[in-house]
Amino acid sequence: MDQQLEQLRIEALAAIATAADETAVEQARIKFVGQSGELTALSKGMKDVSKDDKPRIGKLLNDVRTAVTAALDERKGALLADADAAAFAGVDVSLPGTAPRLGSLHPITQLQDRAVQIFRRMGFALADGPDIEDEWHCFDALNTPADHPARNEQDTFYLPDGRLLRTHTSTIQIRTMESSAPPIRIIAPGAAYRRDEVDATHLAQFNQMEGLYVAEGVSVADLKGTLEFFFRELFGNDAQFRFRPHFFPFTEPSFEVDIKAAAFGGGDKWLEIAGCGMVDPAVFESINTKRGDAAYDPEKYTGFAFGFGLDRLAMIMSGTPDIRYFTQNDQRFLAQF
Ligand code: PHE
Repeated sequence: MDQQLEQLRIEALAAIATAADETAVEQARIKFVGQSGELTALSKGMKDVSKDDKPRIGKLLNDVRTAVTAALDERKGALLADADAAAFAGVDVSLPGTAPRLGSLHPITQLQDRAVQIFRRMGFALADGPDIEDEWHCFDALNTPADHPARNEQDTFYLPDGRLLRTHTSTIQIRTMESSAPPIRIIAPGAAYRRDEVDATHLAQFNQMEGLYVAEGVSVADLKGTLEFFFRELFGNDAQFRFRPHFFPFTEPSFEVDIKAAAFGGGDKWLEIAGCGMVDPAVFESINTKRGDAAYDPEKYTGFAFGFGLDRLAMIMSGTPDIRYFTQNDQRFLAQF
């Protein structure tokens, strides 16, 4: 029996050492140490071994099994390592890699994010609405009569079904009032569309940020304080302001805001930057009619609204001479931000 076991050990180790692939290793395992393999067959002879020899033969049996099993594992590992090495042949893993190109946010998005952050700190919530609108949300509810030039097909993009591309994001303020009762304090950033001739300072699509605050006792002082705080956060504490009387159908009184700040290249020029005013009671009345209640009682509530374009501000802040660069997707331009 000793001899048979030693013979098996030699045969098995030789077969394993020359096994060319995983299948051959597995076949060797089945042949030598499998359930109906040669070692199992030999171990059946234990019952004929004399009592004296039993411990020694038993130990030898175990040794052979352990040695063969270890050789199987080792061969399998070596074959795997060979396969890995073959897969990497010709690849120099120590070569420097190709750095991934990191993108950045568009300058208008960066400005919008900053603006939203500042208004959030003052308790304004972010509101949203559709770009495709109806005349009611864009004009009627905003006290803009049917003969107003903005409603002309020369100024506004109309769809064949009579809907339109919103000309300002004031539509979001209307939608917010339709669905929520006062007090409300929102900002509404988004795209707006007008039939402008495209040139260095005009696009047919631009980006606006409008705001609305309706509560009891809101005054022009709140309006001025809010806008001045906002623009000072954006452009620095040295900013100076001028509120010029103006007209908008949906606010009364209305103002245009001019600003002078070192951030705009120093200079002594006033820059027209925003429109604003106190919400016209007629707007509250249209909302009430639409809602079918008196939630926006003009005797109880007042509010202010404002709106400004982001594109022109982003141009000034980034020193971009032509607004068209913002939409041309030219990486030579965009990679600078
Ligand atoms: N909706 C106006 C515009 O697009 C801006 C504005 C908003 C003016 C709110 C006054 C109050 O020009």
